[in-house]
Amino acid sequence: MRPLELIKRRAYPYETEEREGTYLALNENPFPFPEELVEEVFRRVETEKLKTYYDSPNRELLRAILGYLDRGFLSFENVSIGNGADEIIYVTMLMFDRVVFFPPTYSCYKVFAKALGVKYLEIPLKEGLKVPDVTLGEGDVVFLPNPNNPTGHVFEREEVVKLLEKGAFVVLDEAYYEFHGESCVDLLKRFENLAVVRTFSKAFSLAAQRIGYVVSSRDFIDAYNRVRLPFNVSYVSQIFAKVALEHLEIFEERIRFVVRERERMKERLREKGFNVTDSRANFVFITLAEEEKERALELLRKNRVVVRNFKEGIRITVGKKEENDLVLELLGGM
Ligand SMILES: Cc1ncc(COP(=O)(O)O)c(C=O)c1O
Repeated sequence: MRPLELIKRRAYPYETEEREGTYLALNENPFPFPEELVEEVFRRVETEKLKTYYDSPNRELLRAILGYLDRGFLSFENVSIGNGADEIIYVTMLMFDRVVFFPPTYSCYKVFAKALGVKYLEIPLKEGLKVPDVTLGEGDVVFLPNPNNPTGHVFEREEVVKLLEKGAFVVLDEAYYEFHGESCVDLLKRFENLAVVRTFSKAFSLAAQRIGYVVSSRDFIDAYNRVRLPFNVSYVSQIFAKVALEHLEIFEERIRFVVRERERMKERLREKGFNVTDSRANFVFITLAEEEKERALELLRKNRVVVRNFKEGIRITVGKKEENDLVLELLGGM
């Protein structure tokens, strides 16, 4: 078969949705990036630098990320950045023989593996949303979001340790770390076969700037830096990320709001008899049988509320208070 035909057979097209009404489908932050910080970023942009191939990562940003991580045992050689966490995931897939993931999980793991034409293995999570017992080898790379997407639940530390002890390389995807507050970064002290990936897209309201980072052993970071594109994150995006980290207090208050709203939504939905997972991310996940799910989706759609449909249920991003109220009112009336 012709090469382009082969790609079209295995890879999914990226589709963008028209955005109108209440958009709660992509786990974005309900708050815009603060206006005063946008001004701060533009004050710092040096026009001379725009014409250069700017360092990626820039050392100042790495220093800020290391400060945010606040782990004395980590140094510059343990961190790198990507054009979103997605690029880090994408590039890492090229560094191993086989990609492994446990659905229901972040849908891009499969999308990327198929687009790249790499070997992959998907094994569903066990009863109770636990990591399945699977035999893995040195050439395998496992992708595990923690908190998980779409369920939002957290894998216990012992499960992560057990997975690491199998010897495969493990990428812990902590895209939603800030909404949970607990990290496995300290496991890097014990395990060389671990990388922790994070993003500025969620807690820091910067999805459009495309910036993520990865923390791992020197060995992994060295290899990653050889495979990724040389100037992968733009000069301006790096300033955005640094400015965000210099104003943590603004984001911490917003995170507290999202967490409060998430808990309120979980509680209200449970009161109405819905089966809701224990999400610790910035979304809630409702497990629904097919027929009931279709009814819920139709009701939301009719009221111009866009959420994400999964085989196992629906995922709803925590939005502004009035958006969450609307969702609760609609689903509460079912
Ligand atoms: C688990 C997980 N990882 C990574 C990403 C992508 O992050 P980024 O915007 O930094 O590419 C997402 C986005 O939804 C996600 O849910």
